[in-house]
Amino acid sequence: MRAVGIVPGQREVRILEHTAPGITRSNDVKVRSLEVGVCGTDKEICTFVYGSPPEGFDYLVLGHESLGQVVEVGSDVSTFKPGDLVVPSVRRPCPHDHCFSCRDDKQDFCFTGDFTERGIKMTHGFMTEYYVDEDRYLTYVPPALRDVAVLVEPLTVVEKGLAQVWQVQKRLPWVDDRLPEEKRGRDKKAVVIGAGAIGILGAMALVARGFETWVYSRSKKPNSKSRLVESFGARYVSSESATVDQLAEEIGNIDLVYEAVGKAKVAYDVLRVLGLNGVYVFTGIPSPKPSIEIDADIIMRNLVLKNQAVVGTVNADAAAFTAAIHDLGVFMKHWPESLRGVISGRYRIEDYRDLLLGEKGGIKNVISFV
Ligand code: BGC
Ligand code: ZN
Repeated sequence: MRAVGIVPGQREVRILEHTAPGITRSNDVKVRSLEVGVCGTDKEICTFVYGSPPEGFDYLVLGHESLGQVVEVGSDVSTFKPGDLVVPSVRRPCPHDHCFSCRDDKQDFCFTGDFTERGIKMTHGFMTEYYVDEDRYLTYVPPALRDVAVLVEPLTVVEKGLAQVWQVQKRLPWVDDRLPEEKRGRDKKAVVIGAGAIGILGAMALVARGFETWVYSRSKKPNSKSRLVESFGARYVSSESATVDQLAEEIGNIDLVYEAVGKAKVAYDVLRVLGLNGVYVFTGIPSPKPSIEIDADIIMRNLVLKNQAVVGTVNADAAAFTAAIHDLGVFMKHWPESLRGVISGRYRIEDYRDLLLGEKGGIKNVISFV
């Protein structure tokens, strides 16, 4: 069957012939690809600085943001049946007995570094017609979310990030523990850096929890991203029109920063204006570049004098996938058009070059297999 992959030895990105997988274990599920999202990580893998093929292969099938449909299940699978829509997670555990995280299904917190990631690190991905995975790595998708469920994996970045925020802020009487999740942002102010898919989904999740939310992104408004952001009740500020200090002045005390831009300069600049008792979540993965100047003394001083916490987060556990399905349902109810607008285009597999190597703009581009 056809797959999009990289051949690092030849520094090539192309359509490959990949053997169709079959069910070999009793808890295996065979899935037909419906849609696969393309993200910055995929593009980076296509520059050969990141990602690696499985042992014994000279190629890696790309794709880690998938929506699929179950076509066959192993004899011990009771939670899925043919026809069900599913989304797979990305990370697979390391093999070591002493890795408490992996043994506890928390491979996102693997202690050894020997985890693998589908479509990224030493395991083939989902940019192909069929794939097989164990039932425990799949999450059920209600049919009503068919149109937008390819956004589940990127949304898990947000869900895991917010789960970390609640954990970290337990150090403070930050919110009333008894508040339901959708009220936890009440009277709090959040900044999202970046208006890509992870940023916009992050802003939706914050607005849905009651945060007053600003998205800080490069392009001057009005533009398609600023309109989308404003359509669900967040504010959009362009970094070309307002400095970080002007942004901070407009907002007041910034309680939460959610970084989704992958650019260190602006990320550290916004860290400088984080508020009292604030929390800052990094999700971007920049490629290494020459060192830059940052206001290190001010940042360090603030971290101490303002009780700030900075946390990095990589996705994601099963709970984050369940939360993403829940939130997609919430977004769909409140802002169906905005949510659909996050998917900027659906393309054929033959368009892989433009999507992975070209400058195709938009928010989330998707390869459709149907
Ligand atoms: C994926 C994550 C993955 C990370 C690092 C992201 O694009 O969504 O699942 O852990 O890249 O490889
Ligand atoms: Zn991704």
